[in-house]
Amino acid sequence: MSNVMIIYPYTFSVSVSCLIQLKYPPYISSNIPFLGHAVAFGKSPIDFLENAYEKYGPVFSFTMVGKTFTYLLGSDAAALIFNSKNEDLNAEDVYSRLTTPVFGKGVAYDVPNPVFLEQKKMLKTGLNIAQFKQHVPVIEKETKEYFKSWGDSGERNLFEALSELIILTASHCLHGKEIRNLLNEKVAQLYADLDGGFTHAAWLLPGWLPLPSFRRRDRAHREIKNIFYKVIRKRRQSGEREDDMVQTLLDVTYKDGRSLTDDEIAGMLIGLLLAGQHTSSTTSAWLGFFLARDKSIQEQCYAEQKAVCGEDLRPLNYDQLKDLNMLDRCLKETLRLRPPIMTMMRMARTPQTVAGYTVPPGHQVCVSPTVNHRLKDSWIESLEFKPDRYLQDNPTAGEKFAYVPFGAGRHRCIGENFAYVQIKTIWSTLLRLYEFDLIDGYFPTVNYTTMIHTPDNPVIRYKKRSH
Ligand code: HEM
Repeated sequence: MSNVMIIYPYTFSVSVSCLIQLKYPPYISSNIPFLGHAVAFGKSPIDFLENAYEKYGPVFSFTMVGKTFTYLLGSDAAALIFNSKNEDLNAEDVYSRLTTPVFGKGVAYDVPNPVFLEQKKMLKTGLNIAQFKQHVPVIEKETKEYFKSWGDSGERNLFEALSELIILTASHCLHGKEIRNLLNEKVAQLYADLDGGFTHAAWLLPGWLPLPSFRRRDRAHREIKNIFYKVIRKRRQSGEREDDMVQTLLDVTYKDGRSLTDDEIAGMLIGLLLAGQHTSSTTSAWLGFFLARDKSIQEQCYAEQKAVCGEDLRPLNYDQLKDLNMLDRCLKETLRLRPPIMTMMRMARTPQTVAGYTVPPGHQVCVSPTVNHRLKDSWIESLEFKPDRYLQDNPTAGEKFAYVPFGAGRHRCIGENFAYVQIKTIWSTLLRLYEFDLIDGYFPTVNYTTMIHTPDNPVIRYKKRSH
């Protein structure tokens, strides 16, 4: 197909002589006005992208709901996003309409990127090894407590359970005991309403529309902030110090010496919880299903618990957690096959050159970890769950962005280490408690309708271990 400017849906002001030389990425046209490829993409985004990769190569564009997307597939093409400046490929332009109503003003994508980078640094100071050492017993205790209601055997929705549990563990570890103790059913509902702000509708539709889900999100935002304000003000007034994230954020300052306001702290606490909530609960659920599907791997993970922590399986600690290499590899492989963030996106503000093409301003430029993680050019037996592939030399050596479940560059995740601590502690506890099986061999299909691709009908069978 032709890449000549005249057929291209975007224009920008460059001289005609220059236009003739520009080569735009292959454009996958559609006969459907406005919606474009939205239906085919929405039904099965990975198939859509993989087919396009086969046909057009690593860089191509298409239109959905009036927006033109350019995907950069494979490690080399993806480098453009990860190495770019935020002024050129901008994150706020695409994420802020989703995140600002949920986290609030003054934080994350509502502020210029250099300010957000400072905020990320502040949050990172509270995510250190000394903290992780305290988190492990907290998460183990919360998990044991939560799963008491599962009894000795049964069939239950694993994803639902892990989502509920992870609000408790993440709030306890990332907010502190004081805020965790305020978590009851009403507050959990507020989080659910707030989380309801992360939908395709919120991303696509104007924020002023009087939709019930928008109103619930905005009310939940105000109410959760009020809860946080009380804790922050009490802490400020009493002068009492705790060893938690609230304290870290009360103590830190921006480079210019300014302290965080109560509103910024509250927004950062919301962001911290929600950034890790869906990502970690989906990953944990998929991990459970991979282990249930391959009983030999599950038994190796259980044997590893005994080998590392002792036959009597005493309470876990952080150092042991680090030595659980098999579980580590299983988690790594789960993040390869089911990375919760399927697409990272930026708005092209300036023309960008990649693989000999020019991507014009106005395109939403995307990288998909899901596709990169399964490219046959990069991975052997790419669709198989094979945790031992990481025992060999780096399977994708030389391809810097072949494995990017946590992103890379200036927008890289700050929660990776915490996510590993949390998920490995939860699964260590669960492996010690139960043996898991698929029900009649059913391994969940992927639900593509949610922003983070969750497992469909994620019910699992379990029975108590006799040890
Ligand atoms: C399995 C768990 C997680 C996964 C797979 C994950 C994945 C990601 C990815 C792919 C990005 C890059 C987004 C982009 O470039 O557009 C990101 C950024 C980020 N994540 Fe995570 N994340 C996880 C858990 C967490 C947790 C637990 C926290 C907080 C404690 C967190 C906080 C953040 C923050 C603050 C950013 C920075 C966004 C930016 O700078 O634009 N994440 N994460």
